[in-house]
Amino acid sequence: MKNFSNFKKADRIIYVYSGKGGVGKSTVSVNIAFTFLNLGYKVGLFDADLSTPSIPTLVKGVKFTDQYMHKNLVMPAKYKGLLYSSTGNLGETTDGSFLSGQYLKGALYQLFFGISWDVDILIIDMPPGTTDLHTNLFYNLEGDILFVTTPHSTSHEDLIRSAALIERFNLNVIGVIENMSYVNCTNCEKQIPLHNGQNLDFNYNNKSYKILSSLPFDAELSYLSSIGVPYMFDKNKVNNHTYLKYMFIASEILKGVK
Ligand SMILES: Nc1ncnc2c1ncn2[C@@H]1O[C@H](COP(=O)(O)OP(=O)(O)O)[C@@H](O)[C@H]1O
Ligand SMILES: [Mg+2]
Repeated sequence: MKNFSNFKKADRIIYVYSGKGGVGKSTVSVNIAFTFLNLGYKVGLFDADLSTPSIPTLVKGVKFTDQYMHKNLVMPAKYKGLLYSSTGNLGETTDGSFLSGQYLKGALYQLFFGISWDVDILIIDMPPGTTDLHTNLFYNLEGDILFVTTPHSTSHEDLIRSAALIERFNLNVIGVIENMSYVNCTNCEKQIPLHNGQNLDFNYNNKSYKILSSLPFDAELSYLSSIGVPYMFDKNKVNNHTYLKYMFIASEILKGVK
């Protein structure tokens, strides 16, 4: 950790990242955060997508305390042992949309480095792309990368771009989540692939990036997300396929699998 006196502590920092938008980074971030919360960890969730934040929409059904500014410091929103911070909580939907250059950097420093996280695990929901904001965070904050992709060539290409970027920094890759990969057929009990590139491990610069887990397209998860209830918030789902997959991913992260 370089130069940030306010940055208290996070034992483990996980970047949820992909160059591609719409593959499920925010959805995975929120659900991994609630998985760790259910397991009894203190968790931080930072919405690093400053211009198009999704986290407030995805958790609006959870009774978080308000996030607010106090003497130029950001007070994170809280729910039990979960803290989170997002530009989406600090104004109208369009307020952050046009941040650029120094303003973007300023917002990042206030919203992230201004908070005393003091958590066991900090999840960072990254925006798509390979921008200044990415390099700023990756340079200043050592952590582990959890890639998210769909099993499709356009997402795969952007994943390679992301791999090329993170190679410049001191970051460990936990693995790749292949999201919206298949549907579980309720009649035949088979898994039906949704794209044609499933289960492909990636190589870049002689490094191999392994598929840690494939997640289904889950219509219930999609519905719950739309009303702001994270799938993993509901403990009644304990035996459901997607729930068990998230528990597996969490256990792999805790092992520090590469
Ligand atoms: N496993 C899933 N099953 C069903 N819908 C999903 C799944 N993962 C993501 N989605 C949906 O896909 C859309 C994009 O997800 P999002 O997390 O916003 O992607 P990103 O953060 O990568 O842009 C959202 O509408 C979300 O609800
Ligand atoms: Mg997102």
